[in-house]
Amino acid sequence: MKNAWNAQGRIDMDERITPRRFAAGLPGDIPRHWLPGNEFVSSLLNAYTILVPANEAFYIRTLNACLPHVRDETLLGRCQDFIRQEAQHGVAHKRYWDNLDAQGYAYRGFERMVDRWVFRVMDRFAPLWFRASLVSCVEHINAFLGYEFLSQSILASADPRMRDLMEWHFAEEIEHRAVAFDLLQAVSPRYPVRLLGAITTSTLFYLLMTGLTTALLAQDRRLWRKATWRQAAWHLGTGHGMARRTLQHLLDYLRPGFHPFRLPGADALAAGVLTRQASRQPPAVVAMGTRT
Ligand SMILES: [Fe+2]
Ligand SMILES: [Fe+2]
Repeated sequence: MKNAWNAQGRIDMDERITPRRFAAGLPGDIPRHWLPGNEFVSSLLNAYTILVPANEAFYIRTLNACLPHVRDETLLGRCQDFIRQEAQHGVAHKRYWDNLDAQGYAYRGFERMVDRWVFRVMDRFAPLWFRASLVSCVEHINAFLGYEFLSQSILASADPRMRDLMEWHFAEEIEHRAVAFDLLQAVSPRYPVRLLGAITTSTLFYLLMTGLTTALLAQDRRLWRKATWRQAAWHLGTGHGMARRTLQHLLDYLRPGFHPFRLPGADALAAGVLTRQASRQPPAVVAMGTRT
């Protein structure tokens, strides 16, 4: 897994993406605020966990619809590996829903509503070029979220089971970060398409994440506590700097010469996580075999 610039200064497209299964358990004793002392980030990533399966099922449907228009065999193979990785993300995150249910969170109605009124409506009414652009932008968001969480070790003190789940997902988001963008370039490379997808995706993503995080914190009766707001200010502002960094990453995506491979140190970060998780006994993640 080295999505790298080759000696000629061009992107090496032959690098393989390895589909993996998340093999570790997610037992019922994982605390509801599994990042100790930080119910804000715990709830933010619980919201992410709730939104992942429908979101990623939409990516998979979109890529499958694009495949007949792709002539490049290498890109076709990368799309197939991308689909296998995303399918496993949905499966693993959905396993954690049992814990959320046992903890008494009400979220399933909201999740179904989002799937029906956002993703299924997009499937039915949005043209393929627009859906491909939405997926390309949200994959950039997934990749830079993963990059920031891994490079800043934000989950270092998290419950190890949840740390494994999130860091495996973040590492694979980094690993396959260029696939949806390259697919968009193959099916609809015009800049206004990228711009329209970016505006729509970033608005929807942050509205949904904010709404669901707020709802989870309200259900915990933590929404109006000063400590929660201090945690939010630390995460978004003075500490992890996520508001400023998010804006930088989103503006980066709008540069005409943007390509997702240009994320310094990202591949080494992801490889470090995946190697550590795969080499542990028993392994947290297991490779599922590559294409022939
Ligand atoms: Fe994913
Ligand atoms: Fe992804």
